[in-house]
Amino acid sequence: MRRRILAANWKMNHGPTATTGFMRDFAAGYTERPDRDVVLFPPAVSIAAARAGSRRPDGTPLAGVALGVQNIHWEDRGAFTGAISGPMARDAGADYVLVGHSERRQLFGETDEQCAAKCAAAERAGLTPVLCLGETLAQRERDETAWVVVGQLRAGLSALTQQELTTSVIAYEPVWAIGTGRTATPADASEIHRILRSALRDLIGDRAEDVSILYGGSATAANAADLLRAPDVDGLLVGGASLTAASWLSICAA
Ligand code: PGA
Repeated sequence: MRRRILAANWKMNHGPTATTGFMRDFAAGYTERPDRDVVLFPPAVSIAAARAGSRRPDGTPLAGVALGVQNIHWEDRGAFTGAISGPMARDAGADYVLVGHSERRQLFGETDEQCAAKCAAAERAGLTPVLCLGETLAQRERDETAWVVVGQLRAGLSALTQQELTTSVIAYEPVWAIGTGRTATPADASEIHRILRSALRDLIGDRAEDVSILYGGSATAANAADLLRAPDVDGLLVGGASLTAASWLSICAA
């Protein structure tokens, strides 16, 4: 059975001090729920602060709250100034890593081949990759959405074993909906998620049913419940609306 996952992508926001404040408010308001996993993706320098703050008042860790990093290098170590590796992220307390976010693809020139190598590096390190994919507005207008997202899916997952594929997470994030306030409708999201699941079925058969496919792109507390009710939408990857504890707590409760 696939898991419901609510993931917060803070991008380049919240250093350790802001993270400590966020976690204080989040931990105070968070209700643990067995039916969902919450994953926070702070900047890598803030992982320790997020980990320290992910505790109940009695000091025990909050159940169902995990941490991830926003990017890793595909090599495990070496002369790659500025990069962090899978084993380092794991050592710092991460369980997940975002791979191929559209900002990485567009602003940092990340390719499908690099995404595949990063997914493999994540698995080597014991991290769950969250492979992000989505079409641009121009691609949508040319009716290329299915072709683009299935291509990104197959390429990004190409270096994984069948078992690794089954435990990976996919995030469909239409580029035109990220940070724009323009959300895909639940029906739009469902349609693409169904296409992605069918592409997964070609790769791993019935086990495609176990893969969580998240939607991302201007998800907020106001539209989270509707998106989560849509068939084949198994969770959300939230940017802007995850930056304050109050907004994030209401999405976690949606
Ligand atoms: P947004 O970002 O929620 O601010 O649109 C989502 C993402 O980029 O993961």
